[in-house]
Amino acid sequence: MSPSPDQSPNQSSLNSATFSADIFSSNAKFDSHLSIAGITAARLVKEFGSPLFVVDEADFKARALGFKSALEKHFGANTGRVYYASKAFLNKEIARWIESVGLGIDVASGGELAVALAVNFPADRIEVHGNNKSEAEIEKAVLAGVGAIVIDSFHEIERVARIAANHKVIQKVLIRVTPGIQAHTHEFIATAHEDVKFGFSLASGSAWKAIEEIEALKSLKLVGLHSHIGSQVFDAEGFGIAAHRLIGLLAKFRDHFDDELPELDLGGGFGIAYLPGEESINPDFVLGELAKIIFEECAHAGLRVPHISIEPGRAIAGPTTTTLYTVGTTKNIELDGGETRRYIAVDGGFTDNMRPALYDAKYHAILANRTSSAHDVTSRIVGKHCESGDIIIRDINLPQDIAPGDILAVPVTGAYGRQMASNYNHLTRPAVIAVIDGKARIIVRRETEADLLALDI
Ligand code: LLP
Repeated sequence: MSPSPDQSPNQSSLNSATFSADIFSSNAKFDSHLSIAGITAARLVKEFGSPLFVVDEADFKARALGFKSALEKHFGANTGRVYYASKAFLNKEIARWIESVGLGIDVASGGELAVALAVNFPADRIEVHGNNKSEAEIEKAVLAGVGAIVIDSFHEIERVARIAANHKVIQKVLIRVTPGIQAHTHEFIATAHEDVKFGFSLASGSAWKAIEEIEALKSLKLVGLHSHIGSQVFDAEGFGIAAHRLIGLLAKFRDHFDDELPELDLGGGFGIAYLPGEESINPDFVLGELAKIIFEECAHAGLRVPHISIEPGRAIAGPTTTTLYTVGTTKNIELDGGETRRYIAVDGGFTDNMRPALYDAKYHAILANRTSSAHDVTSRIVGKHCESGDIIIRDINLPQDIAPGDILAVPVTGAYGRQMASNYNHLTRPAVIAVIDGKARIIVRRETEADLLALDI
């Protein structure tokens, strides 16, 4: 949609509701209306209802493969695995896509593991995370034969060792190290500074102590170190510092045990654009920069370069998905100073996208079912929940004639959108539709009221 000719110039400090190809999935187009992989938003809503998560399947697979090729390009024989961080967006079909393009999968709970196992995801490509894995979760992982469990605490060393021994298994493990890095991101999604619940601190020596404990246990095989510095990271610097510090620990291990650990997993966190004009981090660039640091540091320390693994979640899933909402009501509110704010209420809300409420995250939206030549007005997109904080987009310029029945499309909702959805107010969680080559199919059906009642005794 092009900006309307009568749009007043002094209103354009906010993002205007234009289609911006760089934040929509690669097969989305706007040509008098939005279509994704050849299917119009209006048809999707007509057929599947709204709110609706629409995943561009080819785009999803391409982004997953993009990380794999970039890792292989820069690390060659030292390539470990790309583990898709399934917490970003997981269902059986997505697990199948990840499997089909040859990635591994990072699961962070028994539930995520169950999804991977339900589609026969090769167990040796599964890596198990979690800062407080239950004994049942550990046992399930050990019995499934997962490739590695990432150990997060001293209690867990004992638990995994005991459970593996009980089943006469030697379990491969990594340890999660917090290298003491303050990633420039929201506090709740920064994970590698010292004062966090995750992993073993490098500075305090507890990472080394964990290594010594694990090495003394016959049922555990330490295969490497892991760190995850946080999410929405936009430069190579934080990853580089983490790599530098972890390589120091690998060298200490070599000096002490006369052996070298084969794997270094640098986690996820690759930042993406949510608004027009923002830029996503380029995996090829950041992995190239990292490779330079890692090869140099290892040469300096006289170490063999370990297999380098990464765990992107958001950067694979995020940009692939668009949420479609139907407008239910609009309201003009007079503000002090004579301005008007237009409230546009849609049929979902902060239960299908809690990121704005939780992290103050910003999103873009467009009118998806038609063009409009009406002038833009400052608008606020809100949901249908009984809370004022139920805001999807706080301030955006949208055409003044948006009315009940119109469809709004919010791009970049693939990561931590449907996955963090809840049933507050007993709303049913939206369906997830995959679109590819002009065809749409349900991959997660819409919840029903019967689903909501099913758990009540
Ligand atoms: N690996 C580990 C160990 C992680 O904890 C995470 C994310 C990832 C990989 C993937 O990070 P990504 O590439 O997706 O940034 N709900 C928050 C994000 C929480 C991320 C938690 N851990 C949000 O909506 O921004």
